Amino acid sequence: MGITSMLTSAARRLEGKVALITGGASGIGEATAKLFTRHGARVMIADIQDDKGRALCESLGSSAASYVHCDVTDESHVRDAVDAAVSRHGKLDIMFNNAGIIGLPCMQIRKSEKADFEKVVGINLVGSYLGTKHAARVMIPARRGSIVMTASVASVMPGLASAAYTCSKHAVVGLMRSAALELGQFGVRVNCVSPHAVATPLATTGLGVGGEEVEEFVLEHAVLKDVRLKAEDVAEAVLFLGSEEAKYVSGVNLLVDGGFTTASTSHGLFRYSDV
Ligand SMILES: NC(=O)c1ccc[n+]([C@@H]2O[C@H](COP(=O)([O-])OP(=O)(O)OC[C@H]3O[C@@H](n4cnc5c(N)ncnc54)[C@H](O)[C@@H]3O)[C@@H](O)[C@H]2O)c1
Repeated sequence: MGITSMLTSAARRLEGKVALITGGASGIGEATAKLFTRHGARVMIADIQDDKGRALCESLGSSAASYVHCDVTDESHVRDAVDAAVSRHGKLDIMFNNAGIIGLPCMQIRKSEKADFEKVVGINLVGSYLGTKHAARVMIPARRGSIVMTASVASVMPGLASAAYTCSKHAVVGLMRSAALELGQFGVRVNCVSPHAVATPLATTGLGVGGEEVEEFVLEHAVLKDVRLKAEDVAEAVLFLGSEEAKYVSGVNLLVDGGFTTASTSHGLFRYSDV
């Protein structure tokens, strides 16, 4: 029995939909690809980790998932990935601009490197811009579509990550709001999902800690107690934004943070270290 047959057709919320997921080979993108295919979507995974992306597609089944090499900072790659999804499946319903990096673990602007700032902004922001631009190109004639971008709790609160990361994620929300305003007239919805820290390679490698430590940190400072945030929980929010249940939801930055960013007391957390 394939993974896609685990839900009854009535319970599948993306039956017949086609989704392109950047950064889909790992972490939140991978969890979303798995959830989307369980809900009946055909997904194209766009990433630079070719072996990992291909292996994931193989595990999901060739009719449900396919892989395309795509560096989101290269406009020709993004254009070609969108065109590949349309040529393979005839349309694009959901664009998930999710690829991202955290960059160097440097909290102080005055000690940071321009090259790192540009790299983080290039992938997190420019990559999302290119994904939005090219998804809009094929969604506008269809007069429907859902574009979702992964921002972060750092999109609404400074001090959780470097200035480069914080700026990039604040800007992703600006991009999302601009695109929602522009594309609504064509029936295209645009939203963000903004998770708190999740134990993915981005968080563990980027912060130099184990997955358990990431989760313990979130638990310790949580507003909502006794719940561990997993990549699958973020995928559920993306599923909602991509599905017809969200047909009138656009221009929203959906925080998946258990209320963390609503708490002004969280500010007591931030101590600027010497890194
Ligand atoms: N993990 C967290 O704590 C957390 C919290 C908030 C937001 N986010 C955001 O979630 C998104 C996904 O990150 P994740 O946590 O799943 O990390 P991850 O490292 O598991 O996945 C990120 C994926 O993006 C891909 N990628 C990186 N650069 C790329 C490029 N130039 N072109 C195409 N793909 C590229 C990587 O190969 C990887 O597969 C990112 O935008 C990240 O900023 C993560």
